[in-house]
Amino acid sequence: MIPATNQRPPATILFIFGGSGDLNLRKLTPALYNLYLDNYLSDRFTVVGLGRSDYTDESFRERLLEGVQSFSRRKNGPDDIWASFSKTITYLQMDAGDAGAYTKLSNYVSATEEEWGVQANIVFYLAVAPQLVPGIATNLGKLPLCGEKSRVRIVVEKPFGHDLKTAQELNGLLGGLFAEEQIYRIDHYLGKETVQNILALRFANSLFEPIWNRRYVAYIQITASETVGLEGRGGYYEGSGALRDMIQNHLLQVLCMVATEAPISFDANEVRNKTVDVLNAIRRIKPEQVNDVAIRGQYGPGQKDGKAIPGYREEEGVKPDSKTETFAAVKLFVDNWRWEDVPFYLRTGKSLPEKATVITIQFKPAPYYAFPEEATNGWQSNRLTIGIQPGMDIRLRFQAKRPGQTLAIDPVEMVFSYKDAYEGQEPEAYETLLLDVMTGDATLFMRADQVEAAWKVVTPILEAWEAETPEFPNYEPGSWGPEAATQLVEKDGFSWLMK
Ligand code: BG6
Repeated sequence: MIPATNQRPPATILFIFGGSGDLNLRKLTPALYNLYLDNYLSDRFTVVGLGRSDYTDESFRERLLEGVQSFSRRKNGPDDIWASFSKTITYLQMDAGDAGAYTKLSNYVSATEEEWGVQANIVFYLAVAPQLVPGIATNLGKLPLCGEKSRVRIVVEKPFGHDLKTAQELNGLLGGLFAEEQIYRIDHYLGKETVQNILALRFANSLFEPIWNRRYVAYIQITASETVGLEGRGGYYEGSGALRDMIQNHLLQVLCMVATEAPISFDANEVRNKTVDVLNAIRRIKPEQVNDVAIRGQYGPGQKDGKAIPGYREEEGVKPDSKTETFAAVKLFVDNWRWEDVPFYLRTGKSLPEKATVITIQFKPAPYYAFPEEATNGWQSNRLTIGIQPGMDIRLRFQAKRPGQTLAIDPVEMVFSYKDAYEGQEPEAYETLLLDVMTGDATLFMRADQVEAAWKVVTPILEAWEAETPEFPNYEPGSWGPEAATQLVEKDGFSWLMK
Protein backbone atom coordinates (compact mmCIF):
# COMPACT_ATOMS: atom_id res chain seq x y z
CA MET A 1 0.00 0.00 0.00
CA ILE A 2 1.28 3.48 -0.79
CA PRO A 3 3.00 4.67 2.38
CA ALA A 4 1.14 7.41 4.27
CA THR A 5 4.34 9.45 4.29
CA ASN A 6 4.35 9.49 0.49
CA GLN A 7 7.84 8.07 0.61
CA ARG A 8 9.19 7.36 -2.81
CA PRO A 9 11.02 4.12 -3.40
CA PRO A 10 14.82 4.14 -3.43
CA ALA A 11 16.86 3.88 -6.65
CA THR A 12 15.32 1.03 -8.65
CA ILE A 13 16.20 -1.05 -11.68
CA LEU A 14 13.14 -2.92 -12.93
CA PHE A 15 13.68 -5.73 -15.44
CA ILE A 16 10.59 -6.97 -17.26
CA PHE A 17 10.83 -10.42 -18.84
CA GLY A 18 8.21 -10.47 -21.59
CA GLY A 19 8.92 -6.78 -22.20
CA SER A 20 7.27 -6.76 -25.60
CA GLY A 21 4.27 -8.76 -24.38
CA ASP A 22 0.69 -7.85 -23.69
CA LEU A 23 0.93 -7.46 -19.90
CA ASN A 24 3.64 -4.85 -20.19
CA LEU A 25 1.78 -3.02 -22.94
CA ARG A 26 -1.62 -3.00 -21.25
CA LYS A 27 -0.82 -2.90 -17.55
CA LEU A 28 2.79 -2.46 -16.47
CA THR A 29 3.95 0.48 -18.57
CA PRO A 30 0.64 2.39 -18.13
CA ALA A 31 1.00 1.82 -14.36
CA LEU A 32 4.61 3.05 -14.32
CA TYR A 33 3.64 6.04 -16.42
CA ASN A 34 0.91 7.00 -13.93
CA LEU A 35 3.30 6.52 -11.00
CA TYR A 36 5.67 8.86 -12.82
CA LEU A 37 2.91 11.45 -13.34
CA ASP A 38 2.13 11.28 -9.61
CA ASN A 39 5.80 11.62 -8.73
CA TYR A 40 5.99 8.21 -7.07
CA LEU A 41 9.03 6.95 -8.95
CA SER A 42 12.55 7.46 -7.69
CA ASP A 43 14.68 10.04 -9.50
CA ARG A 44 16.95 7.10 -10.06
CA PHE A 45 14.66 4.72 -11.85
CA THR A 46 15.08 2.66 -14.98
CA VAL A 47 12.91 -0.03 -16.54
CA VAL A 48 14.49 -2.54 -18.88
CA GLY A 49 12.26 -4.51 -21.25
CA LEU A 50 13.68 -7.94 -22.05
CA GLY A 51 12.66 -10.07 -24.99
CA ARG A 52 13.75 -11.86 -28.10
CA SER A 53 12.13 -9.42 -30.53
CA ASP A 54 14.30 -6.96 -32.29
CA TYR A 55 13.71 -3.43 -30.97
CA THR A 56 15.88 -0.40 -30.52
CA ASP A 57 15.23 1.68 -27.40
CA GLU A 58 13.38 4.11 -29.65
CA SER A 59 11.13 1.57 -31.39
CA PHE A 60 10.42 -0.13 -28.03
CA ARG A 61 9.36 3.18 -26.49
CA GLU A 62 7.11 3.87 -29.46
CA ARG A 63 5.40 0.52 -29.00
CA LEU A 64 4.87 1.17 -25.29
CA LEU A 65 3.49 4.63 -26.01
CA GLU A 66 0.73 2.89 -27.99
CA GLY A 67 -0.04 1.00 -24.79
CA VAL A 68 -0.27 4.19 -22.78
CA GLN A 69 -2.47 5.87 -25.39
CA SER A 70 -4.83 2.88 -25.47
CA PHE A 71 -4.84 1.50 -21.93
CA SER A 72 -3.61 4.10 -19.43
CA ARG A 73 -6.17 5.83 -17.23
CA ARG A 74 -4.36 9.04 -18.19
CA LYS A 75 -3.18 9.38 -21.77
CA ASN A 76 -0.09 11.21 -22.86
CA GLY A 77 -1.28 14.81 -22.93
CA PRO A 78 -0.15 17.84 -24.91
CA ASP A 79 2.56 18.58 -22.31
CA ASP A 80 4.26 15.44 -23.52
CA ILE A 81 5.31 14.01 -20.17
CA TRP A 82 5.92 10.79 -22.08
CA ALA A 83 9.07 12.28 -23.59
CA SER A 84 10.71 12.61 -20.17
CA PHE A 85 9.25 9.38 -18.76
CA SER A 86 10.31 7.34 -21.78
CA LYS A 87 13.96 8.21 -21.12
CA THR A 88 13.75 5.77 -18.19
CA ILE A 89 12.89 2.92 -20.61
CA THR A 90 15.50 0.71 -22.27
CA TYR A 91 15.26 -2.48 -24.30
CA LEU A 92 17.67 -5.35 -23.96
CA GLN A 93 17.38 -8.14 -26.49
CA MET A 94 17.93 -11.49 -24.85
CA ASP A 95 16.73 -15.05 -25.07
CA ALA A 96 15.52 -15.92 -21.57
CA GLY A 97 16.25 -19.58 -22.30
CA ASP A 98 19.96 -18.87 -22.85
CA ALA A 99 21.68 -19.21 -19.45
CA GLY A 100 24.78 -17.40 -20.70
CA ALA A 101 22.77 -14.27 -21.54
CA TYR A 102 21.98 -13.48 -17.90
CA THR A 103 25.36 -11.83 -17.31
CA LYS A 104 23.94 -9.01 -19.46
CA LEU A 105 21.65 -8.26 -16.52
CA SER A 106 24.42 -8.15 -13.92
CA ASN A 107 26.47 -6.00 -16.25
CA TYR A 108 23.58 -3.64 -16.75
CA VAL A 109 23.12 -3.35 -12.97
CA SER A 110 26.83 -2.64 -12.38
CA ALA A 111 26.99 -0.01 -15.11
CA THR A 112 23.81 1.73 -13.93
CA GLU A 113 24.84 1.72 -10.30
CA GLU A 114 28.21 3.14 -11.24
CA GLU A 115 26.55 5.91 -13.21
CA TRP A 116 24.13 6.67 -10.34
CA GLY A 117 26.77 6.34 -7.64
CA VAL A 118 24.35 4.33 -5.43
CA GLN A 119 23.23 0.75 -4.95
CA ALA A 120 19.76 0.15 -6.37
CA ASN A 121 16.84 -2.11 -5.57
CA ILE A 122 16.51 -4.64 -8.33
CA VAL A 123 13.19 -6.10 -9.41
CA PHE A 124 12.84 -8.97 -11.89
CA TYR A 125 9.26 -9.02 -13.16
CA LEU A 126 8.31 -12.26 -14.91
CA ALA A 127 5.55 -11.14 -17.28
CA VAL A 128 5.83 -14.38 -19.23
CA ALA A 129 3.87 -17.57 -19.88
CA PRO A 130 3.84 -19.79 -16.76
CA GLN A 131 5.89 -22.55 -18.38
CA LEU A 132 8.82 -20.11 -18.75
CA VAL A 133 8.89 -19.15 -15.06
CA PRO A 134 10.95 -22.10 -13.69
CA GLY A 135 13.68 -21.68 -16.32
CA ILE A 136 14.00 -17.92 -15.87
CA ALA A 137 13.94 -18.17 -12.08
CA THR A 138 16.64 -20.86 -12.17
CA ASN A 139 18.90 -18.75 -14.37
CA LEU A 140 18.32 -15.66 -12.24
CA GLY A 141 18.99 -17.65 -9.09
CA LYS A 142 22.50 -18.40 -10.37
CA LEU A 143 23.40 -14.70 -10.46
CA PRO A 144 25.38 -13.82 -7.29
CA LEU A 145 23.35 -10.60 -7.23
CA CYS A 146 20.16 -12.52 -6.39
CA GLY A 147 21.63 -13.59 -3.06
CA GLU A 148 21.26 -9.99 -1.89
CA LYS A 149 17.97 -10.53 -0.12
CA SER A 150 17.26 -7.02 1.01
CA ARG A 151 17.40 -5.41 -2.42
CA VAL A 152 16.63 -8.01 -5.09
CA ARG A 153 13.04 -9.15 -5.71
CA ILE A 154 11.31 -11.42 -8.18
CA VAL A 155 7.69 -10.89 -9.20
CA VAL A 156 5.68 -13.88 -10.40
CA GLU A 157 2.34 -13.52 -12.14
CA LYS A 158 -0.58 -15.89 -11.89
CA PRO A 159 -1.36 -18.66 -12.63
CA PHE A 160 0.81 -19.87 -9.77
CA GLY A 161 0.83 -23.59 -10.56
CA HIS A 162 -1.89 -25.60 -12.23
CA ASP A 163 -2.91 -27.46 -9.08
CA LEU A 164 -1.64 -28.03 -5.55
CA LYS A 165 1.19 -30.30 -6.64
CA THR A 166 2.58 -27.97 -9.31
CA ALA A 167 2.20 -24.96 -6.99
CA GLN A 168 4.18 -26.81 -4.32
CA GLU A 169 6.83 -27.68 -6.90
CA LEU A 170 7.07 -24.07 -8.03
CA ASN A 171 7.24 -22.85 -4.43
CA GLY A 172 9.94 -25.45 -3.78
CA LEU A 173 11.93 -24.30 -6.79
CA LEU A 174 11.63 -20.58 -6.03
CA GLY A 175 12.27 -21.18 -2.34
CA GLY A 176 15.55 -22.93 -3.20
CA LEU A 177 16.69 -19.93 -5.25
CA PHE A 178 15.30 -16.93 -3.35
CA ALA A 179 14.30 -16.11 0.21
CA GLU A 180 10.51 -15.92 0.70
CA GLU A 181 10.72 -12.16 1.32
CA GLN A 182 12.21 -11.74 -2.15
CA ILE A 183 9.27 -13.47 -3.90
CA TYR A 184 6.26 -11.33 -4.83
CA ARG A 185 3.37 -13.47 -6.12
CA ILE A 186 0.86 -11.11 -7.71
CA ASP A 187 -2.89 -11.30 -7.32
CA HIS A 188 -4.01 -8.09 -8.94
CA TYR A 189 -7.37 -8.12 -7.12
CA LEU A 190 -5.57 -7.25 -3.90
CA GLY A 191 -4.24 -4.09 -5.55
CA LYS A 192 -7.74 -2.78 -6.28
CA GLU A 193 -8.65 0.24 -4.15
CA THR A 194 -12.03 -1.16 -3.26
CA VAL A 195 -10.57 -4.49 -2.13
CA GLN A 196 -8.06 -2.73 0.13
CA ASN A 197 -10.92 -0.63 1.44
CA ILE A 198 -12.59 -3.73 2.88
CA LEU A 199 -9.98 -3.68 5.63
CA ALA A 200 -10.53 0.04 6.22
CA LEU A 201 -14.30 -0.40 6.35
CA ARG A 202 -14.05 -3.26 8.83
CA PHE A 203 -11.20 -2.17 11.05
CA ALA A 204 -11.22 1.64 10.95
CA ASN A 205 -14.86 1.72 12.12
CA SER A 206 -16.33 0.40 15.32
CA LEU A 207 -19.76 0.11 13.74
CA PHE A 208 -19.45 -3.00 11.59
CA GLU A 209 -17.19 -5.37 13.50
CA PRO A 210 -19.65 -6.21 16.32
CA ILE A 211 -22.21 -7.47 13.77
CA TRP A 212 -19.72 -9.03 11.34
CA ASN A 213 -20.30 -12.61 12.41
CA ARG A 214 -22.61 -15.64 12.40
CA ARG A 215 -24.98 -14.07 14.90
CA TYR A 216 -26.08 -11.33 12.49
CA VAL A 217 -24.93 -12.41 9.03
CA ALA A 218 -27.16 -14.83 7.12
CA TYR A 219 -24.85 -15.36 4.16
CA ILE A 220 -22.20 -13.70 2.05
CA GLN A 221 -21.92 -13.59 -1.73
CA ILE A 222 -19.03 -12.63 -3.95
CA THR A 223 -19.76 -12.30 -7.67
CA ALA A 224 -17.20 -11.47 -10.34
CA SER A 225 -19.04 -11.49 -13.62
CA GLU A 226 -17.61 -10.65 -17.01
CA THR A 227 -19.36 -9.90 -20.28
CA VAL A 228 -16.36 -10.82 -22.40
CA GLY A 229 -15.64 -14.28 -23.70
CA LEU A 230 -12.11 -15.42 -24.35
CA GLU A 231 -10.58 -12.34 -25.96
CA GLY A 232 -8.14 -14.48 -27.93
CA ARG A 233 -6.79 -16.22 -24.80
CA GLY A 234 -8.01 -19.70 -25.76
CA GLY A 235 -4.54 -21.21 -25.50
CA TYR A 236 -4.27 -20.27 -21.83
CA TYR A 237 -7.89 -20.51 -20.74
CA GLU A 238 -8.53 -23.93 -22.18
CA GLY A 239 -6.00 -25.37 -19.71
CA SER A 240 -7.37 -23.29 -16.86
CA GLY A 241 -11.12 -22.65 -16.57
CA ALA A 242 -13.08 -20.37 -14.26
CA LEU A 243 -12.25 -22.17 -11.01
CA ARG A 244 -8.50 -21.93 -11.53
CA ASP A 245 -8.56 -18.58 -13.32
CA MET A 246 -10.70 -16.59 -10.86
CA ILE A 247 -11.82 -18.53 -7.79
CA GLN A 248 -8.56 -20.17 -6.63
CA ASN A 249 -6.94 -16.75 -6.49
CA HIS A 250 -8.97 -13.54 -6.83
CA LEU A 251 -12.26 -14.58 -5.25
CA LEU A 252 -10.69 -16.54 -2.40
CA GLN A 253 -8.48 -13.55 -1.62
CA VAL A 254 -11.52 -11.27 -1.53
CA LEU A 255 -13.22 -13.80 0.74
CA CYS A 256 -10.18 -13.63 3.03
CA MET A 257 -10.49 -9.84 3.28
CA VAL A 258 -14.16 -10.16 4.18
CA ALA A 259 -13.72 -13.00 6.67
CA THR A 260 -10.36 -12.29 8.32
CA GLU A 261 -9.89 -11.54 11.99
CA ALA A 262 -8.49 -8.09 12.77
CA PRO A 263 -4.73 -7.89 12.26
CA ILE A 264 -2.82 -6.32 15.13
CA SER A 265 -0.64 -4.33 12.72
CA PHE A 266 -0.21 -3.78 9.02
CA ASP A 267 3.01 -5.71 8.99
CA ALA A 268 2.97 -7.82 5.80
CA ASN A 269 3.30 -11.11 7.64
CA GLU A 270 0.75 -10.24 10.28
CA VAL A 271 -1.91 -9.48 7.65
CA ARG A 272 -1.01 -12.60 5.69
CA ASN A 273 -0.99 -14.78 8.81
CA LYS A 274 -4.54 -13.69 9.47
CA THR A 275 -5.76 -14.22 5.91
CA VAL A 276 -4.14 -17.64 5.59
CA ASP A 277 -6.01 -18.62 8.76
CA VAL A 278 -9.23 -18.05 6.82
CA LEU A 279 -8.12 -20.29 3.97
CA ASN A 280 -7.10 -23.00 6.41
CA ALA A 281 -10.49 -22.75 8.12
CA ILE A 282 -12.48 -23.31 4.93
CA ARG A 283 -14.34 -26.60 5.33
CA ARG A 284 -12.87 -29.32 3.13
CA ILE A 285 -15.36 -30.51 0.55
CA LYS A 286 -15.76 -34.28 0.47
CA PRO A 287 -15.75 -35.88 -3.00
CA GLU A 288 -19.38 -36.98 -2.67
CA GLN A 289 -20.44 -33.40 -1.78
CA VAL A 290 -18.87 -31.68 -4.78
CA ASN A 291 -21.97 -31.77 -6.99
CA ASP A 292 -24.06 -30.20 -4.21
CA VAL A 293 -21.73 -27.28 -3.57
CA ALA A 294 -19.93 -26.60 -6.84
CA ILE A 295 -21.53 -25.81 -10.18
CA ARG A 296 -19.75 -25.46 -13.49
CA GLY A 297 -20.92 -24.13 -16.81
CA GLN A 298 -19.77 -23.43 -20.32
CA TYR A 299 -21.43 -20.99 -22.70
CA GLY A 300 -22.73 -22.19 -25.99
CA PRO A 301 -23.37 -20.17 -29.15
CA GLY A 302 -26.09 -17.56 -29.00
CA GLN A 303 -26.98 -13.91 -29.39
CA LYS A 304 -25.93 -10.96 -27.32
CA ASP A 305 -27.21 -7.44 -28.05
CA GLY A 306 -28.52 -8.69 -31.39
CA LYS A 307 -25.10 -10.04 -32.36
CA ALA A 308 -24.27 -13.70 -32.96
CA ILE A 309 -21.79 -14.97 -30.36
CA PRO A 310 -19.76 -18.10 -31.01
CA GLY A 311 -19.90 -20.73 -28.29
CA TYR A 312 -16.83 -21.35 -26.18
CA ARG A 313 -16.09 -24.52 -28.12
CA GLU A 314 -15.92 -22.51 -31.34
CA GLU A 315 -13.30 -20.10 -30.00
CA GLU A 316 -9.74 -20.24 -31.28
CA GLY A 317 -7.50 -22.58 -29.30
CA VAL A 318 -10.45 -24.48 -27.78
CA LYS A 319 -11.17 -28.16 -28.34
CA PRO A 320 -14.53 -28.92 -30.01
CA ASP A 321 -15.44 -31.20 -27.06
CA SER A 322 -13.82 -29.01 -24.40
CA LYS A 323 -14.62 -29.78 -20.75
CA THR A 324 -13.27 -26.41 -19.59
CA GLU A 325 -15.72 -24.43 -17.52
CA THR A 326 -16.31 -20.75 -18.29
CA PHE A 327 -18.57 -20.37 -15.26
CA ALA A 328 -18.14 -21.62 -11.70
CA ALA A 329 -20.15 -21.15 -8.53
CA VAL A 330 -19.23 -22.62 -5.17
CA LYS A 331 -20.65 -22.66 -1.67
CA LEU A 332 -18.07 -22.63 1.10
CA PHE A 333 -18.08 -22.54 4.89
CA VAL A 334 -15.43 -21.06 7.13
CA ASP A 335 -15.22 -23.26 10.19
CA ASN A 336 -14.40 -20.97 13.06
CA TRP A 337 -16.17 -19.17 15.91
CA ARG A 338 -17.01 -16.16 13.81
CA TRP A 339 -18.39 -17.85 10.71
CA GLU A 340 -19.54 -21.36 11.57
CA ASP A 341 -22.46 -22.33 9.26
CA VAL A 342 -22.62 -19.00 7.40
CA PRO A 343 -22.57 -19.88 3.68
CA PHE A 344 -20.16 -18.01 1.43
CA TYR A 345 -21.36 -18.20 -2.18
CA LEU A 346 -18.79 -17.36 -4.85
CA ARG A 347 -19.51 -17.17 -8.57
CA THR A 348 -17.71 -16.03 -11.65
CA GLY A 349 -18.10 -16.47 -15.36
CA LYS A 350 -17.46 -15.25 -18.86
CA SER A 351 -20.15 -14.08 -21.26
CA LEU A 352 -22.53 -13.06 -18.48
CA PRO A 353 -24.92 -10.09 -18.67
CA GLU A 354 -22.74 -7.53 -16.86
CA LYS A 355 -19.15 -6.77 -15.90
CA ALA A 356 -19.23 -6.33 -12.17
CA THR A 357 -17.52 -7.51 -9.01
CA VAL A 358 -19.77 -7.20 -6.00
CA ILE A 359 -19.68 -8.46 -2.41
CA THR A 360 -22.92 -8.77 -0.49
CA ILE A 361 -23.17 -9.19 3.26
CA GLN A 362 -26.76 -10.25 3.84
CA PHE A 363 -27.87 -9.78 7.44
CA LYS A 364 -30.49 -11.88 9.19
CA PRO A 365 -34.04 -10.53 9.45
CA ALA A 366 -35.03 -8.45 12.46
CA PRO A 367 -36.00 -10.93 15.18
CA TYR A 368 -39.51 -9.62 15.72
CA TYR A 369 -41.85 -7.32 13.78
CA ALA A 370 -44.06 -5.23 16.03
CA PHE A 371 -45.44 -3.39 12.98
CA PRO A 372 -48.77 -4.40 11.47
CA GLU A 373 -48.34 -6.91 8.69
CA GLU A 374 -49.66 -4.59 5.95
CA ALA A 375 -46.99 -2.03 6.89
CA THR A 376 -44.13 -4.36 6.14
CA ASN A 377 -45.00 -5.74 2.70
CA GLY A 378 -41.81 -4.58 1.08
CA TRP A 379 -39.63 -5.40 4.07
CA GLN A 380 -36.13 -6.56 3.21
CA SER A 381 -33.42 -7.57 5.66
CA ASN A 382 -30.39 -5.34 6.07
CA ARG A 383 -27.76 -5.75 3.45
CA LEU A 384 -24.34 -4.26 2.92
CA THR A 385 -23.23 -4.26 -0.71
CA ILE A 386 -19.63 -3.50 -1.57
CA GLY A 387 -19.14 -2.59 -5.22
CA ILE A 388 -15.58 -3.52 -6.19
CA GLN A 389 -15.88 -2.57 -9.87
CA PRO A 390 -16.92 -0.88 -12.08
CA GLY A 391 -19.33 0.79 -9.64
CA MET A 392 -17.09 1.60 -6.66
CA ASP A 393 -19.44 2.10 -3.78
CA ILE A 394 -20.79 0.78 -0.51
CA ARG A 395 -24.55 0.54 0.00
CA LEU A 396 -26.28 -0.11 3.28
CA ARG A 397 -29.92 -1.11 3.01
CA PHE A 398 -32.27 -0.53 5.89
CA GLN A 399 -35.99 0.11 6.41
CA ALA A 400 -37.57 3.55 6.66
CA LYS A 401 -41.10 4.80 7.20
CA ARG A 402 -42.64 6.07 3.98
CA PRO A 403 -43.84 9.66 4.61
CA GLY A 404 -47.63 9.89 4.98
CA GLN A 405 -50.48 9.16 7.34
CA THR A 406 -50.50 5.41 6.73
CA LEU A 407 -47.82 3.30 8.33
CA ALA A 408 -45.77 1.78 5.55
CA ILE A 409 -42.17 0.70 5.77
CA ASP A 410 -39.86 0.48 2.76
CA PRO A 411 -36.27 -0.53 2.22
CA VAL A 412 -33.97 2.45 1.45
CA GLU A 413 -30.25 2.77 0.83
CA MET A 414 -27.42 4.80 2.26
CA VAL A 415 -24.71 5.07 -0.38
CA PHE A 416 -21.04 5.94 -0.26
CA SER A 417 -19.71 6.40 -3.77
CA TYR A 418 -16.04 6.95 -4.52
CA LYS A 419 -16.95 9.10 -7.49
CA ASP A 420 -19.00 11.51 -5.39
CA ALA A 421 -16.73 11.51 -2.35
CA TYR A 422 -13.34 11.91 -3.98
CA GLU A 423 -12.03 13.94 -6.84
CA GLY A 424 -9.74 12.49 -9.45
CA GLN A 425 -9.16 8.91 -10.37
CA GLU A 426 -8.16 6.10 -8.12
CA PRO A 427 -4.90 4.30 -8.99
CA GLU A 428 -5.06 1.08 -10.96
CA ALA A 429 -4.20 -2.14 -9.12
CA TYR A 430 -0.88 -2.49 -10.94
CA GLU A 431 0.23 0.98 -9.85
CA THR A 432 -0.25 0.07 -6.20
CA LEU A 433 1.37 -3.32 -6.61
CA LEU A 434 4.41 -2.10 -8.57
CA LEU A 435 5.02 0.63 -6.04
CA ASP A 436 4.74 -1.93 -3.24
CA VAL A 437 7.35 -4.14 -4.90
CA MET A 438 9.68 -1.18 -5.28
CA THR A 439 9.26 -0.15 -1.64
CA GLY A 440 9.43 -3.75 -0.41
CA ASP A 441 5.91 -4.02 1.04
CA ALA A 442 4.62 -7.57 0.54
CA THR A 443 1.29 -7.16 2.36
CA LEU A 444 -0.76 -7.43 -0.83
CA PHE A 445 1.20 -10.34 -2.29
CA MET A 446 0.65 -14.06 -1.86
CA ARG A 447 2.97 -15.94 0.42
CA ALA A 448 3.82 -19.55 -0.49
CA ASP A 449 1.53 -20.96 2.20
CA GLN A 450 -1.40 -18.78 1.05
CA VAL A 451 -1.17 -20.01 -2.52
CA GLU A 452 -1.03 -23.62 -1.38
CA ALA A 453 -3.88 -23.18 1.11
CA ALA A 454 -6.02 -21.73 -1.70
CA TRP A 455 -5.22 -24.71 -3.93
CA LYS A 456 -6.24 -27.05 -1.11
CA VAL A 457 -9.68 -25.42 -1.04
CA VAL A 458 -10.37 -26.07 -4.73
CA THR A 459 -8.56 -29.41 -5.13
CA PRO A 460 -11.56 -31.67 -4.29
CA ILE A 461 -13.64 -29.78 -6.86
CA LEU A 462 -10.95 -30.00 -9.53
CA GLU A 463 -10.56 -33.72 -8.93
CA ALA A 464 -14.28 -34.47 -9.03
CA TRP A 465 -14.76 -32.39 -12.18
CA GLU A 466 -11.82 -34.04 -13.87
CA ALA A 467 -13.37 -37.45 -13.25
CA GLU A 468 -16.74 -36.65 -14.84
CA THR A 469 -17.78 -35.47 -18.27
CA PRO A 470 -20.07 -32.46 -17.96
CA GLU A 471 -23.03 -31.76 -20.21
CA PHE A 472 -21.60 -28.76 -21.92
CA PRO A 473 -22.50 -26.22 -23.21
CA ASN A 474 -25.11 -25.45 -20.59
CA TYR A 475 -25.70 -21.72 -20.64
CA GLU A 476 -26.54 -19.05 -23.17
CA PRO A 477 -24.11 -16.19 -23.62
CA GLY A 478 -25.52 -13.13 -21.88
CA SER A 479 -27.34 -15.21 -19.25
CA TRP A 480 -26.41 -15.65 -15.59
CA GLY A 481 -24.95 -19.11 -16.11
CA PRO A 482 -26.45 -22.56 -15.76
CA GLU A 483 -29.75 -23.13 -14.00
CA ALA A 484 -27.98 -25.25 -11.37
CA ALA A 485 -26.16 -22.13 -10.15
CA THR A 486 -29.50 -20.47 -9.41
CA GLN A 487 -30.56 -23.59 -7.52
CA LEU A 488 -27.35 -23.56 -5.50
CA VAL A 489 -28.61 -20.54 -3.56
CA GLU A 490 -32.36 -21.08 -4.03
CA LYS A 491 -32.32 -24.45 -2.33
CA ASP A 492 -31.01 -22.60 0.75
CA GLY A 493 -33.88 -20.10 0.46
CA PHE A 494 -31.77 -17.27 -1.03
CA SER A 495 -31.14 -15.71 -4.41
CA TRP A 496 -28.11 -14.26 -6.15
CA LEU A 497 -27.74 -10.56 -5.43
CA MET A 498 -26.03 -7.80 -7.35
CA LYS A 499 -26.94 -4.21 -6.52
C1 BG6 B 1 -7.44 -12.33 -14.76
C2 BG6 B 1 -8.04 -13.51 -15.47
O1 BG6 B 1 -6.62 -12.75 -13.70
O2 BG6 B 1 -8.48 -11.52 -14.25
C3 BG6 B 1 -8.97 -13.06 -16.57
O3 BG6 B 1 -7.01 -14.32 -16.00
C4 BG6 B 1 -10.00 -12.10 -16.04
O4 BG6 B 1 -9.60 -14.16 -17.20
C5 BG6 B 1 -9.33 -10.99 -15.24
O5 BG6 B 1 -10.68 -11.54 -17.16
C6 BG6 B 1 -10.37 -10.13 -14.55
O6 BG6 B 1 -9.73 -9.04 -13.97
P1 BG6 B 1 -10.53 -7.68 -13.72
O7 BG6 B 1 -9.55 -6.83 -12.98
O8 BG6 B 1 -10.89 -7.16 -15.10
O9 BG6 B 1 -11.73 -8.05 -12.94
